Amino acid sequence: ATTTARAEHRPRYHFSPKAHWMNDPNGMVYYKGTYHLFYQYYPDGSTWGPMHWGHATSKDMVRWEEQPIALYPDRLGYIFSGSAVVDVNNTSGFGKAGQPPLVAIFTHHDPVLEKQKTGKHETQSLAYSLDEGKTWTKYAGNPVLPNPGISDFRDPKVRWFEPQKKWIMTLATKDRITFYSSPNLKTWSRESDFGRDRGAHGGVWECPDLLPLTHNGKPVWVLIVNINPGAPNGGSGTQYFVGDFDGKTFKPYTDKTKWMDYGTDNYAGVTFANTGDRTILMGWMSNWQYAGVVPTAPWRSATTVPRTLGLREVNKELFLTSEPVEELDVLNGEPISMKNRKVENRYELTTQNETGLFRLDLKAPNPTDFAIVLANDRGNEVEIGYEKTANAYYIDRTQSGKTGFEKGFGKRHIAPRLSTDSTLSLTLLVDVASVELFADGGLTVMTDIFFPDKDLTRLFIKSARGITFTDLTYTPLKPADEAG
Ligand code: FRU
Repeated sequence: ATTTARAEHRPRYHFSPKAHWMNDPNGMVYYKGTYHLFYQYYPDGSTWGPMHWGHATSKDMVRWEEQPIALYPDRLGYIFSGSAVVDVNNTSGFGKAGQPPLVAIFTHHDPVLEKQKTGKHETQSLAYSLDEGKTWTKYAGNPVLPNPGISDFRDPKVRWFEPQKKWIMTLATKDRITFYSSPNLKTWSRESDFGRDRGAHGGVWECPDLLPLTHNGKPVWVLIVNINPGAPNGGSGTQYFVGDFDGKTFKPYTDKTKWMDYGTDNYAGVTFANTGDRTILMGWMSNWQYAGVVPTAPWRSATTVPRTLGLREVNKELFLTSEPVEELDVLNGEPISMKNRKVENRYELTTQNETGLFRLDLKAPNPTDFAIVLANDRGNEVEIGYEKTANAYYIDRTQSGKTGFEKGFGKRHIAPRLSTDSTLSLTLLVDVASVELFADGGLTVMTDIFFPDKDLTRLFIKSARGITFTDLTYTPLKPADEAG
């Protein structure tokens, strides 16, 4: 047997292509027992280039297998972001009776037209698969939605709207979202616009998603809008709106801008199609501010872990929650659990966090300031903490190792604690070079990447004032290829 050296910093339970550049997850769909992940991919280099749809499949969203490229650029342009649906009723006619097609709806981005500055270089197109996602045929009638003259006109997210038996496309149109509808995925009519005067506008709106959740048994719609730049801690980020959708118009309940993730490294996240009652999102674990210069080779970028989305009411307002999917438990090693663990000053959890992969779950009633520190013997540290006076969580990567590749990278990121519960709870997921913080049942979330000079195998908790964790569980995680 040959052992291949691990590429430095490459995550071991997050998806990343073995080599070359990726950005947004695309066309995520569950079909016949398989999760499909497509993604913005440039197979000829490690920075952004002419976009393809790369492809990976998994039975559990944890152990992924790379597949041949699904979509290549063509005469209409590069293959930008989009979605995929199971066309159960064969509305498109691409399938046959008893053989519904998978249909991908994506943006064609024409670089030649872009240079001519016509503002019409982005259009929406279709491709379909009749062999469960293995091979794809582009529709001869592309594009199905021509550009009316809007310079940013992209990232179609399509879902079936059962009450009116039609498809709804949620499209990012520069500084707003435009909703279209269709009986057959091929002809589209504009329904309405949303957001010119709502939410954050520090950058262009991209990669939207409109999805139904329930609260107290009643349907509530969440509109996810990715924005670049303009995120709370800089660069790209994800805002969302909670409200009603009637098949034509989206009406938010409040005007306040809400953020799905306060870390800097969860972008372009959208949800899987066809997962029944579950709503599962994955994002791109990077940020346009530095994605092209992070110190990794031959791979560039990974996805976040899949997250289950839900709603929680706080002070009569509805917020989106994100929590790691249960499927991740397949990675769990032997947990170390403690009750009423008092931490005064410093408590060494482990110096043998050998793989650097672990999960930490804790609960602290009436918490004072504390921090979880990942460290190595080179003086690199990543600190994840809570600050009582600010009532805020933070991730500090200023001392995390390699930070000099981009001036904004080595920073401390903060996130408000939204929960009003007296007991603070959190879950941390750490892979080789990333931390995902899910606080208070996923009300406050932060995702950050980092690049230490050596793996962070030491883990301790510090608290100057002293704190008691009623529950504290450290679970080493196995790399995905050794799990199960
Ligand atoms: C978001 C994005 C999309 C676009 C794609 C291009 O990260 O800019 O709007 O479709 O990336 O790769």
